Amino acid sequence: MSERSDKSSGPDVRVLPVDRWAAVVTDAWVERLSARPSLRMCLPTGSTPLPVYAEMRSRQVSWAAAEVLLLDEWVGLPPSEPGGCDATLRRELLDRVDLPPDRYRPIHADAPDLSAECGAVDAWLDGGLDLAILGVGVNGHLGMNEPGTPAENRTHLATLAASTIDSAAAYFGDRPRPAHGVTVGLTDLLAAREVWVLATGARKAEIVRESLHGEARPAVPASLLSGHPNCVWWLDEAAAVSGLPRH
Ligand code: PGA
Repeated sequence: MSERSDKSSGPDVRVLPVDRWAAVVTDAWVERLSARPSLRMCLPTGSTPLPVYAEMRSRQVSWAAAEVLLLDEWVGLPPSEPGGCDATLRRELLDRVDLPPDRYRPIHADAPDLSAECGAVDAWLDGGLDLAILGVGVNGHLGMNEPGTPAENRTHLATLAASTIDSAAAYFGDRPRPAHGVTVGLTDLLAAREVWVLATGARKAEIVRESLHGEARPAVPASLLSGHPNCVWWLDEAAAVSGLPRH
C-alpha cells in the first residue's frame, strides 16, 4: 500500500495518492462499521466527503444498526432547498444505504425553538459518539465552529465566517446564501472516541499545515484536535504539501 502514516510524532496523518484517497478512507470506514455495527457517527457534507460517500454506496456493509447525526445545517433555507446539508447527506449517502430512517438525526435548523432543537441534538450526543467524520474549512473551522468558537460550546447557532458564506456559492449558486448555521459544538467533537478529518486539494494545504503544526488555539478550531487521543487526518498529496514556511 502506498499510504504513508506518521503517528510517531503526534497526530496520525495518512497521505494518499488522490486516485486512491476515497477508496482507502472507505476501506477504513467499512472496517469500523463491520467491527461495530451499532457505530454512532456524526457526518459532514461539503464537497470533500462526496467521493467517499460515492465509494461507500457500492460497498457491501450494513448500516441497519448504525446511528447517524448530521454535523451541521444552514439556517434560513427555503423548504426543499437541495443545497442544504440534510438534503445533501440523504442524496449522497443515506438514501443509498440501509440505514433505517429513525436511526438518522438531522438538525432542524428551521425549528421554531432553536435552543430546544440544540438541546435535543445534545441529548443525542449524550449517548456517545464513536466516530466524528469532519471536513476542515480553509479558515480552520470544524462543522460551523468558526475561528474563535469556545471549545466548551455544545450544539449552537453560529454566525458564519465570510469564507464559509463564500464557499456556500457552490451549493446555492445565485440563490441567497445563509449567514448562520446550527452546528454540533467543539466539545462533543473533541469528545468523540475517534475523529477523522478529511482534506483534499492544494487549497487546504495551508490550513492543514497550520492545524497540524501550529499552536493549538480557538482561532484555528482544527488545531484543537491535536489534543485528541484518536484522531486521523486523511489527506491527499496536494493537501499534505505546503511550501509556506512554518512559524
Ligand atoms: P469542503 O468544506 O469540503 O467543501 O471544502 C469543508 C468545510 O468547510 O468544512
